[in-house]
Amino acid sequence: MSPLSPTPAESGPARTAAVIPAAGRGVRLGPGTPKALRALGGIPMLIHAVRAMAASRAVTLVVVVAPPDGAPEVRNLIDGHALPEHTDYVVVPGGATRQESVRLGIAVLPEDVSVVLVHDAARPLVPVDTVDAVIEAVRDGAPAVVPALPLADTVKEVEPAAGPGLPEPVLSTPVRSRLRAVQTPQGFDRDTLVRAHGSVAVDGDGATDDAGMVERLGEPVVVVPGHEEAFKVTRPLDLVLAEAVLARRRANDGF
Ligand code: CTP
Ligand code: MG
Repeated sequence: MSPLSPTPAESGPARTAAVIPAAGRGVRLGPGTPKALRALGGIPMLIHAVRAMAASRAVTLVVVVAPPDGAPEVRNLIDGHALPEHTDYVVVPGGATRQESVRLGIAVLPEDVSVVLVHDAARPLVPVDTVDAVIEAVRDGAPAVVPALPLADTVKEVEPAAGPGLPEPVLSTPVRSRLRAVQTPQGFDRDTLVRAHGSVAVDGDGATDDAGMVERLGEPVVVVPGHEEAFKVTRPLDLVLAEAVLARRRANDGF
């Protein structure tokens, strides 16, 4: 390429990729298959999550971070389920923490990707409008964007119990109207996300929220409206809710 020709990143629209951490075991869901591979409406949760990202016209690459020994199985799974034509995918093995898994996913992004979504495989039902709203906010100049919802419950900060069965003293009650529960996909300017993952070491269970790592850099993070259906499948009751949402979609539009 001559020095005068613009690079693809400068000439075309920002290329957007989605990194999907799917390497967790799903301990809180109970024993069995790794969470991302469990079926919802007969289709693995991970496939729902990949399709939810590929549903956005802007997303041209999906990087799936598979359970450490599960990359070949995940590749087969995605090969067996159609994706839109505009979407490529790559599968890499994950790590021991979500933070490590996301880092491994970011590491294989091609150079021309300038906007990165990070989306939990455990949020299989996020609507495409939420995905597009996050991408648009990044394209409009925000280095980090999180979809979020107001809380239904009041939240208390406590001193964790000194032993099993002991009551926990309450330390404070944050004003609920100022709190937000954050979801994914979170969207980032690629360089900002790479810097965040390069500068925050894995401590204990690691960071569960990529935007929080950007906050630690001192960079601004903004919130856009999240969606009820972007909830995370964490405990057994969440599977019941996810099946009900799928059944409603199928009844409404033949899905
Ligand atoms: N994740 C990952 N690598 C890990 C741990 C988690 O890629 N080592 C992913 C999960 O697959 C999930 C997302 O991060 O899509 C959010 O994590 P969470 O809901 O906590 O899933 P798990 O860690 O699998 O569940 P649990 O904490 O109950 O074991
Ligand atoms: Mg976890």
